[in-house]
Amino acid sequence: MTIPFIDLKLQYLALKASVDARIHRVLDHGQYIMGPEVRELEEQLEVYTGARHCITVASGTEALLISLMSLGIKPGDEIITTPFTFVATAEVIVLLGAVPVFVDIEPDTCNINASLIEAAITPKTRAIMPVSLYGQPADMDEINAIVARHGNITVIEDAAQSFGAQYKGRKSCNLSTIGCTSFFPSKPLGCYGDGGAIFTNDDALAQAMREIRVHGQERRYVHTRVGVGGRMDTIQCAIVLAKLERFDWEIEQRLKIGARYNELLAGKVQAVTQYHDRTSVFAQYTVFIENRERLQEVLKQAGIPTAVHYPVPLNEQPAYRHLCCPDCTPISQQRARQVMSLPMSADLQEVEQDFIVNALCEASKR
Ligand SMILES: Cc1ncc(COP(=O)(O)O)c(C=O)c1O
Repeated sequence: MTIPFIDLKLQYLALKASVDARIHRVLDHGQYIMGPEVRELEEQLEVYTGARHCITVASGTEALLISLMSLGIKPGDEIITTPFTFVATAEVIVLLGAVPVFVDIEPDTCNINASLIEAAITPKTRAIMPVSLYGQPADMDEINAIVARHGNITVIEDAAQSFGAQYKGRKSCNLSTIGCTSFFPSKPLGCYGDGGAIFTNDDALAQAMREIRVHGQERRYVHTRVGVGGRMDTIQCAIVLAKLERFDWEIEQRLKIGARYNELLAGKVQAVTQYHDRTSVFAQYTVFIENRERLQEVLKQAGIPTAVHYPVPLNEQPAYRHLCCPDCTPISQQRARQVMSLPMSADLQEVEQDFIVNALCEASKR
């Protein structure tokens, strides 16, 4: 049996009629940039998340960058975040000349450890960027409460992996002042290229973000601020609109498949913990194991692909390690050696899952 890590082909086949029709509509009207599907998608995502404003952008990375720009982040400002994430989270901070301040993670969820944040705040702290890793929101209420005690610090949820997840009954992306997501193809809600979105309930920030997305343009050829070319293509918006048609079903499937992995692996292989007050959309289903390379090879031989998110914490990466000593975040160091993600998609079949779990349990006994 050969199992795909994520089956985007099956998903396309299930949605082919809608995706094709949506793409053809764009080809017919020809408004490839800022066509009507852009606002249509934003409106649907505003309803979905409950956020007042959705601003689609060129990628998840661009969403984070534009968010920081809308806050006027400048050289020397400090942004607290996690080192156990995809590089984009810290990259955008450094691009603006600001400084990422890395705070260690919780060992069970791999999300930023909110109880360590307060000690990292200085007069230069301007924002906190928790990442809702693997699709499970970080402890957002705790983080919002810390900010409320300090003033002039904004919380930006990096929800690139968690669109569709819930935290205490509220939707990820609408859990703090700003939420950013990615529509990278393999994300829980993906397009067929690059795309992303920013969410906020703040009217002034939303206006700034809309302008920054189009070169800081307030109206045609009037540039009141410095911006970027950060729009999401109309065709990509049309594809996400088609994908929304079965998104609720996909989320239900992901929750079921994640819960079934938990049951089948219980007592055998340790996995990332899911808290009861929130859901994970399982952008990744991740376990903690020793001898990772050997296990990956055994599973590969059995036709089971695996992935590692992430093998090196950002404060050990050559471009970032001067910013914070790796030994300051020992849990990230430890988890980076142990994490391994298993195949996960809404179309994963029970027989495939049984096969994966049996192979993993057998291999980890050896
Ligand atoms: C946590 C996190 N932040 C940011 C990004 C960047 O998103 P994009 O690839 O759409 O630029 C990703 C995507 O992999 C991510 O996983």
